[in-house]
Amino acid sequence: MFKKILSYFYPITIYKETSTISKSIEVTLYNGKMLLNTKNTNYSFGSLQSILKTGLLDIGATEISRMESVLILGVAGGSVVQTLVTDFSFSKNITGVELDEEIIQIANSYFNLDKIPNFKCVIADAEKFVQSDASHYDLIIIDIFKDTEMPEFLFQESYISNCKQLLNKNGYILFNTMRLNKDSKNTIDKYLLHFDSNSYSKKVLKNVERYNDVIIIKRV
Ligand SMILES: C[S@@+](CC[C@H](N)C(=O)[O-])C[C@H]1O[C@@H](n2cnc3c(N)ncnc32)[C@H](O)[C@@H]1O
Repeated sequence: MFKKILSYFYPITIYKETSTISKSIEVTLYNGKMLLNTKNTNYSFGSLQSILKTGLLDIGATEISRMESVLILGVAGGSVVQTLVTDFSFSKNITGVELDEEIIQIANSYFNLDKIPNFKCVIADAEKFVQSDASHYDLIIIDIFKDTEMPEFLFQESYISNCKQLLNKNGYILFNTMRLNKDSKNTIDKYLLHFDSNSYSKKVLKNVERYNDVIIIKRV
């Protein structure tokens, strides 16, 4: 309780770990709330959670309520899982894919991720997972970062095409991107070209929580 009060004055580190994949991972108490951070950015809860919630609100609670299955690529602390379950009362299947096993152990210990009954987590590389997964989803949330870096495969034809194969008709892709240089607009424009306008509707929510652009694509 004392730490919680102190956290309104300055962030308090609750746990710090060096992970092979994510390098430095920190659980921090800030303004009475636990966050998961890496060296240079917030990974879960905090602003990251608000960014994905903005995307989900744009898709809309009615659309989300009719969905049967959600795939999350990049899980970390699982804040978007909590948002779906708590804020959108989503009770259908949620599958998460996460490369870093150590971060999932932290998510289970500090954020009770393993207590969410409709969530299952697969430890795998999302790039490979989308190649071999035979399921179909109504919503695919892409939230893959290594600290502030977005791996190149996210913008490559083969990975994009594999994601499209997994998406049901009337399903959505919600892709969180971070704007780090002047090329970002070009990168997003090129990404959108992979989705033919006759089969997909597309929009970009710009400057979400300042540095992020959220791409929302619907298969029509
Ligand atoms: C911003 S965090 C995800 C936050 C999460 N969506 C949430 O709602 O709290 C980005 C995650 O992507 C994971 N990641 C990076 N490369 C990956 C890959 N190739 N496959 C799966 N996960 C990956 C990182 O380990 C990290 O946990």
